Order: sequence, then structure tokens, then C-alpha cells
Amino acid sequence: MRTLRFLSLILVIFAVTLLIVAARHWNAAPSTVLAADQAATAVMPVGKPLTIKPPLGLPAVPIPADNPPTAETVALGRRLYYEGALSGDGTITCASCHSPKTGFTDRNSPSIGVGGKKGTRHSPTVINSAYNEVQFWDGRAPSLEEQAKGPIANPVEMATSHDAVVAHLQADPKYVALFKEAWGTDHITIDLVVKSIASFERTVLCGNSAFDRFYYGHDKKALSASAQRGLKLFMDPKKGNCAVCHTIGEKYALFTDNKFHNLGVGADIEGKLNDLGRYDQTKNDADYGAFKTPTLRNIAQRAPYFHDGSFPTLKDAMGHYVGGGNANAHLDKEMHALDFLSFDERDDILAFLNSLTAKMPANLGPPADQANSAK
Ligand code: HEC
Ligand code: HEC
Repeated sequence: MRTLRFLSLILVIFAVTLLIVAARHWNAAPSTVLAADQAATAVMPVGKPLTIKPPLGLPAVPIPADNPPTAETVALGRRLYYEGALSGDGTITCASCHSPKTGFTDRNSPSIGVGGKKGTRHSPTVINSAYNEVQFWDGRAPSLEEQAKGPIANPVEMATSHDAVVAHLQADPKYVALFKEAWGTDHITIDLVVKSIASFERTVLCGNSAFDRFYYGHDKKALSASAQRGLKLFMDPKKGNCAVCHTIGEKYALFTDNKFHNLGVGADIEGKLNDLGRYDQTKNDADYGAFKTPTLRNIAQRAPYFHDGSFPTLKDAMGHYVGGGNANAHLDKEMHALDFLSFDERDDILAFLNSLTAKMPANLGPPADQANSAK
């Protein structure tokens, strides 16, 4: 009896040990994947952190703790931004829809991706997107890093997969060397791809326009008399009332409140909306048909306008405001008909909007050996 009990105890101990070993083994695969992922997000640039100097009229650029830009990561990101290998058939780059020649947006409404496929929205500008609290017209991406993952895998944009992009770059010795130089590793990951692109985007800054020199630089001659009148109308709550959403601060002007508003763009005559915008993300009634306020920097270069690109000229966009927006049940309370503005006053606001066009830094276009890939 005793020996039997002893034997069964031994058996139980043996079985438990076996189970523990098996369980460890079973877990081995997922836990190493997790460890690799954590390691990948923890990879930091090896170079010296770069100070991005904002031009007149812009605040300091917000920088995430895990992605301080360096000369190497910015240069790599710039190259990736113009890289066809980020798309399924090699023909589409970020610049196809956000080109420096058109104010970092495109001329299409909506934007056109791989194989001529159409999306549903017009590309917003990448200019000053470093300051956006959230990305996309509906704010669905929390950062530039997360945003960049979207178009690569979007079937109507770059139409490929993150794995395919990484495999392609990993097979190119030039990229392996550039990633090594920037990130100190031979192991390319999608996180390093998007972090590099985001660091480049943080240098796509537009300030020091005629407006900034007048308003922040106190150069009285920088703005024409018409644009000066336009600025007043733009800011006056009883006139244009534009600055309530397109914010002008004491020290800098982002021209966005980083909030979402319904202007009735895309509403039919019955007030029905074909794109619910922010509402699809939050299911909050107040967000119905609301889109993020875009910056107005370099706006003259960025036609067509609004989230669906349905307004071919700035004058047409202005016309939307003069009419008080398209009536619908969720129209923003700050939208009022502006038909009391004289034609001269409307022209003054346009002159002011045109004063927001400024020269951008020279090193934002494609690197010389990549010049053909920029569309
Ligand atoms: C086929 C056209 C197309 C391509 C290619 C494309 N984008 Fe976009 N991009 C868009 C559209 C359209 C939106 C808005 C989509 C939405 O809001 O739903 C957008 C949004 C953005 C935004 C958000 C800006 C804001 O104000 O919210 C950024 C930043 C951006 N894209 C950067 C990139 C980068 C980086 C790449 C390359 C990895 C890229 N895009 C490739 C069309 C494109
Ligand atoms: C209630 C907030 C609000 C007010 C007031 C407002 N805007 Fe806007 N503006 C927005 C939003 C939000 C968008 C994008 C809406 C969309 O696409 O559906 C926008 C878009 C624009 C665009 C197109 C930008 C682009 O990237 O396509 C221009 C130009 C513009 N506004 C100028 C003005 C002017 C001029 C005024 C004053 C007459 C004004 N806005 C008043 C919130 C506002």
C-alpha cells in the first residue's frame, strides 16, 4: 500500500513536471514574437537629436519621446516618402497624393491610388501636420507614425502590405545601409519605416509668410492694404468669423483649432450627408458629418478644396462660407451666412488667404537620385 502511494506520488510529480515543460514550450513562440515587437518599438535613432527650428509664426514642433529626429532618420524618411517600393506596383509614392509641387496635397478629387483606384476623400496637406493633435479628416490616427501605416496597406492607395514593404527594403543593400546608419540595426521593421517618414514630415513646415512677417514680425509693409483688411475680416467674429476655427494665436498661427466641425460639405439639398466624418469614429451625435479643421498655410496652392475636393478654387470655397454652409441638421453653430460682406470684402479675405503662401525649406523635394519618382 505504501509503495503504491509513493509510486503514484512520483507519477503525479512526473506528470506535473511534464505539463510545466509542455506549457513553457507551447508559449515559446508567441512570447518571442512579443519580445521582438517590444524590442522593435524600443529601437532609438543612433545619431545626434536634431533641433527643428520652426519658421516665424509657428510654435516648437512636438516630438514624441520614442522618436527624436536625427539628420539620418529625416534623410531616410525623405527618401521613403518618394519611394515607389512602398506601393503594390511601384508606381505610387506618398508624394503622388502629397506633392511639394501642389502644397503637399494633390489635384485630384478624390485622391487616386494604385491602378487608378479612387478613394473617397481628397488628400489633406502634409504641411504642418506635425502640429495636428490627431491625423486624417476624421482624426482616426493618433500620430504621424500611426498615420503612415494607413496608406501603405490601403487597397485604394498604395495597395501593398507592411510585410511586403519591409521585405523589399530589406532586400535592397542601399536601404539596409541607410537603416543601419539611422537606427543602428540590420533588422528593418515597419515601425522604423513609419518613424523615419514621420521625422521627415516634422520638417515639412510652412511659416514666415507675408502674414507672419506683418503680424508676428511687425513689418507693416509685408501685407498689402487689401490683405490687411482681409485679416481683420477673417478675425472679426461679426464679419468673416473664420479665426474661431482657423486659429490665430498671440505668438503663432496654426490656422486650426484641431477640432471637428460640420460645414455641410457634401450634403445634398435635403441635408443628407454622404460621408459622416468624425461620427464614424466616435458615434457621438455632435460629430455627425464633422471634419477636422485644416490649416490654411499655402492654401492657394492646394486646390481643390475641402474633404471631398468638391470646390475647384479658393473663390468657390469662399462662396460656401458666404452661403452659410449647406443646411443640415448638424451644421456647426459658428456657421452663418456672410452675404452681408461686400464683393470687395470677399476679395480682401481672398487676398489675405493668398498672403499665407510662403517658400518652404529647399530640402523637402525628392533626393537628387530619386527625382523621377516624384509625381
Ligand atoms: C492615393 C493617395 C494617397 C497616398 C499614396 C498617400 N496618401 Fe496620405 N492621405 C490621402 C488621403 C485621401 C488622406 C485623407 C484620408 C482620410 O482622412 O480618410 C490622407 C491623409 C494623410 C495625412 C493626414 C493629414 C491630416 O491633416 O490629417 C498625412 C500626414 C498623410 N496622409 C501622409 C501620407 C504619407 C506619409 C504617405 C506615404 C506613406 C501617404 N500619405 C500616402 C491620400 C494619400
Ligand atoms: C466652424 C468652424 C469653421 C469656420 C467658422 C470656418 N472654417 Fe474653414 N474649415 C473648417 C473645416 C472643419 C474645414 C474642412 C471641412 C470639410 O472639408 O468638410 C474647413 C475648410 C476650409 C478651407 C479648405 C481647406 C482645404 O484644405 O481644403 C478653406 C479655404 C477655409 N476653410 C477657409 C475659411 C474661411 C475663409 C473662413 C471664414 C470666412 C472659414 N474657413 C471659416 C472650419 C471652419
